[in-house]
Amino acid sequence: MRHDHLITSKQLSRADIERVLDYAAEIDADPSAVADRHADKLLGLLFFEPSTRTKMSFETAMKRLGGDVVDMGSVESSSVKKGETLADTVRVIEGYTDALVLRHPKQGAPAMASEFVDVPLLNAGDGAGHHPTQTMLDLYTIRENAGLDDLTIGIMGDLKYGRTVHSLAYALSNFDARQHFISPESLQLPREVVYDLHQQEGAQVREHEAIDEVLPSLDVLYVTRIQRERFPDENEYQQVAGEYQIDVDTLEAASDDLTVMHPLPRVDEIAPEVDETDHAAYFEQAHNGVPVRMALLDLLLREGGDGDE
Ligand code: NCD
Repeated sequence: MRHDHLITSKQLSRADIERVLDYAAEIDADPSAVADRHADKLLGLLFFEPSTRTKMSFETAMKRLGGDVVDMGSVESSSVKKGETLADTVRVIEGYTDALVLRHPKQGAPAMASEFVDVPLLNAGDGAGHHPTQTMLDLYTIRENAGLDDLTIGIMGDLKYGRTVHSLAYALSNFDARQHFISPESLQLPREVVYDLHQQEGAQVREHEAIDEVLPSLDVLYVTRIQRERFPDENEYQQVAGEYQIDVDTLEAASDDLTVMHPLPRVDEIAPEVDETDHAAYFEQAHNGVPVRMALLDLLLREGGDGDE
C-alpha cells in the first residue's frame, strides 16, 4: 500500500482497495501460502475500548501469518491507569513490536499516535470517527455478494456516531455507489461527511427517515447498532432505541437478492429470524475479517516502515 499507517478509508484509492480485496481473496483460497510469512513478527494490540471481533480477528490473522501478538490488556490493568499518555504508550510498545493496532474512544487518537511511531499503525476504531479495517471486510463481503459495480446500498441506523458507516461511505464513493442513508433525524450522518461525499465526482447520496421508499431498490442493506455509549444523554438514547429494526416482514418488500449486513454486535436491529434467510450475510462478514486483516497486515509488514511504495 501507499501508506505506512492505516488511519481512515479516505486515504485509500479504488486501486488500493482492489489490491487488498484481491489479495484477501487469494489468501482465503489458499491460506497455507502465507502461513509462515511473518514467523518472527509481533503485532501489538492496544484496545482502549471493548472489542471482540476486531481484536480476535486481528489476533487470528497475525497467528495465521505465522506471527504472534502482544496485548496491552484492559485499560484497568495497564499503566494508562497511572496517567500515562497515549504518545508514551505507543512509543514504548513500538519498541516491542513490528506493527500496532489501536482502538481508542477519542476520535483522532490513532492519527495523533501515528505521529510518534515508525512501525505501521492500524486504526481499529476511534470514537465516532473511523474504522477502516472494518470497511475493508465490509467491501470484501459486498463484492462477494452483490459486486461493487453499479451498487445500490442502504445504510441504516446510527449514522451519526457509527464509525463503520463513516469509513464505508468514504470508501464506497470510490465506486460510484448509490448510497441511501436511513436514520432518524437526530442520528443523521455528520454534515461534514455529507459535504465530503458530495465533493466526489458522480456522488449519489440521499438521506431518508424511512426505509420503505428505498428498500425495494437495494442490493445491500447495511444495518448498524445505535451507539449507546456515545450518547451524551441517556434520555436521548431512549428516544431512538428500538427504532429502525428489521425482521422477515420488513424484508417482504425487498428484492430476493438483497444482502443484509451488520458490523456486529447487534442488539435488536435485526430479528434473529432473519439469520435463517438467504439475505443474512453478517456472520460471513465477520469471518471475512480474518483473510482481509491477513492481507492488510502482510502488505503493511512487508512494505510499511521503509517509506517505499
Ligand atoms: C463496530 C465498532 O466497534 O465500531 N464493531 C466492530 O468493530 N465490528 C460496530 C459497533 O460497535 O456497533
